[in-house]
Amino acid sequence: MPSIDVCYSPELLHLYDLEGKAVVAVDILRATSTMTTAFAYGAADIIPVMSLEECMAYAAQGHLTAAERDGIKADGFDLGNSPFGYMQEEIKGRTIAITTTNGTRAIRLSEAASEIIVGSFLNLQAVADHLRELQLDVLVVCAGWKGKFNLEDTLYAGALVERLQDAFAFENDATLASLYLYQTAKADLLTFLRQSSHVRRLENLEIHKDIAFCLQHDLYNVLPVWRHNKLVDLKVRKLES
Ligand code: MLT
Repeated sequence: MPSIDVCYSPELLHLYDLEGKAVVAVDILRATSTMTTAFAYGAADIIPVMSLEECMAYAAQGHLTAAERDGIKADGFDLGNSPFGYMQEEIKGRTIAITTTNGTRAIRLSEAASEIIVGSFLNLQAVADHLRELQLDVLVVCAGWKGKFNLEDTLYAGALVERLQDAFAFENDATLASLYLYQTAKADLLTFLRQSSHVRRLENLEIHKDIAFCLQHDLYNVLPVWRHNKLVDLKVRKLES
């Protein structure tokens, strides 16, 4: 039986062997929720990068550029990191280069894994189904905030564990704690997260509707995975092949 484990911060990744594993990278507020939404609105592929300079350089290739730092859209880029910014025709069929404070970093630091999947509540079941098919040991990598633990990514890990607990063994207490946390909070995630650091940060930036939006479960049948140094939607690619 494959196992499932949870890494609370990219800063802890050195403690885990990613070889042969499937990593689910998660940044609920908001990077991976935004990437999932971009694919739901027809983005062709997404290139997550570490730096603003590297991201801006993709404009020369005619790609859309997106950047956020500390919750704020960076100047000079086409898009920021709100899922609502991707709900538009212009996204269809485009390549989007994106850099965010934590989410893109969690994805790029997981490159040693056999499979990297972008997880959010919006595509929870699509990710769970893919993991059942893969039958690889799983590591959920929480983006956190600048290396620190955050609640919302851990709640996501607990939600995924709850959907897979019949077929995946629990590796460490991080998995159990995530499940217990989710089961405590799932009746009303928004209220549970009301005092959390990033919710307060976003609300201080007058960013409100993104929070409730990113907590919705199974809104999109989208499966972003890492292929040849970029993210593609496996659901679409499977249909095309
Ligand atoms: C991140 O990558 O850290 C977050 O998605 C920040 C944000 O809310 O934009």
